[in-house]
Amino acid sequence: MGQTQTRVSSSDSAVDVSSNFDGIDDGPEKKYDLTLTDKVIAATGPNALPRLAQIMPSLIRHLHDFAREVDLTVDEWTAGVELINECGRMSDDKRNETMLLCDILGLETLVDEVTAHMVSAASASGASTPTSILGPFYRPNAPLLPNGASIVQDLTPSVPWYDEAVASSAYITGRVMSSSNPSTPIRNAIVDVWHTAPNGLYEQQDPEQPDMNLRGRFKTDGDGRFAFYCLRPVAYPIPDDGPAGKFLALLDRHPYRPGHIHFIVSGPGHRTLTTQIFDDCDEYITKDSVFAVKDELVVRFEPREGDSQAQWSLEYDFSLEPV
Ligand code: BEZ
Ligand code: FE
Repeated sequence: MGQTQTRVSSSDSAVDVSSNFDGIDDGPEKKYDLTLTDKVIAATGPNALPRLAQIMPSLIRHLHDFAREVDLTVDEWTAGVELINECGRMSDDKRNETMLLCDILGLETLVDEVTAHMVSAASASGASTPTSILGPFYRPNAPLLPNGASIVQDLTPSVPWYDEAVASSAYITGRVMSSSNPSTPIRNAIVDVWHTAPNGLYEQQDPEQPDMNLRGRFKTDGDGRFAFYCLRPVAYPIPDDGPAGKFLALLDRHPYRPGHIHFIVSGPGHRTLTTQIFDDCDEYITKDSVFAVKDELVVRFEPREGDSQAQWSLEYDFSLEPV
């Protein structure tokens, strides 16, 4: 929009636009006092934390440019502040709503990519398994189980999702390899795994599930091999009963994640890998609400014959970077 008023400023870069009645947007640099940004950046003192002193000028510039570019009003800024405040109020040791807000904006996925890129840029080894976000439902100290055990606890016909669990029962096996050249198996690596029940809930969200249900840790053998029974994962909505969920609705977005299984894989002398695998049949595979799917992590479960414990099977190898 063309300006119709003269703004008076002592600064050189505040521009007099009084003569501009042509109805054409002059661009943020013409309308607003750009020296404000430099003043805020220059306010950082010589004893500032070095990393903050390095990164804050960029953050301040991007924030200010954003506000100028969209003509952010006081009411809109106040609504944004209130959204963040609400996230903080709802967060505790069981729920991290501010992280969820970051997740739906793709920020956890982005910083995960940046971190992985910095680590692998510094490494000379071959391709390792891509990372994916940790998410808020990890619990340390899952039961350490023998290879071939099941992470599904106490499955009886009285469980509300018994039929779905039987139909989705799966056997997963694979090897943990070093991405060294040549690639070699890692013995005594730990494969820490967790996923939701067929009702879309992790055990800590669901009082009906036993403690640590659908979680387990497995130690690889001399060939780097692990094996366990679990369930084929289902799509589920991220918690959407708080401000992050309200924000999704305002953006006309759905809260679903495609069915996935989380892993943390660690091995002696190797960088610990946090990742997820995704079921290629899932309708949300291209529409993850937190943008965490990567092509190399998409898998296909195959029908399993002759095993009363599993209808499906999957072979998947992890490759860890030497440190
Ligand atoms: C999850 O996969 O567990 C998750 C990730 C990000 C936000 C919410 C849930
Ligand atoms: Fe998850």
